[in-house]
Amino acid sequence: MKKQILFVCLGNICRSPSAEAVMNAYIDRKNLENEIECDSAGIIGYHEGEPADQRMQSHAIKRGYNLTSISRPVNPDVDFDRFDMVIGMDDQNIRDLQSLARNESDRKKIHKMTDFLEEFGYTSVPDPYYGGEEGFELVLDLLEDACNGLLKHIQNGK
Ligand code: 4NP
Repeated sequence: MKKQILFVCLGNICRSPSAEAVMNAYIDRKNLENEIECDSAGIIGYHEGEPADQRMQSHAIKRGYNLTSISRPVNPDVDFDRFDMVIGMDDQNIRDLQSLARNESDRKKIHKMTDFLEEFGYTSVPDPYYGGEEGFELVLDLLEDACNGLLKHIQNGK
C-alpha cells in the first residue's frame, strides 16, 4: 500500500505546496512513485482555487521545483481517512490540526515537518508570507532537509 502524505500550512500557497513539490522531486529521483504519494492543504480556505504564491514559485523554480498545486483547505472527514501522515509546518498548524482531528487515530497521524530535520536546528518552518526574499529561501532550505529525513523515516518504517 502506498504511503499517503498530506503537507499542511496556513494558506496552502507557500510552505505546503513547496513541501509537496520537493517531496515529489525526491520521490521521482528515487523511483518511489509506487511507494509514496503526497498532497497539500491549508488550515484556512482563504486562497482556495489559487496557485502558489508567485514569490514562492519564483524561488522554487530556481531550484528546479515546479509548484503546480492549487490551494484547498483541509477537509478533516476526507483527509484524516485518506492520509497516513498529516504534516504541519509550525506549532499553530499543529494546534489547528489537533482541533480538527476527530479522534485519537487522527491525532496520531499529525506530525511537525521540523521533526524530520537532519541538518537545521529549527522547530518550525517560518511563514514567509509577510517577510522578505530570504524567508522563501529558508523555507526551501528547511523543506529540502526535512524531506530527506522524512523519506528515511518512511523507508525505515517499512
Ligand atoms: P503559507 O503562507 O501558510 O505558507 O501558505 C501564508 C499564505 C497566506 C496567508 C498566510 C500565510 N494569509 O494570511 O493569507
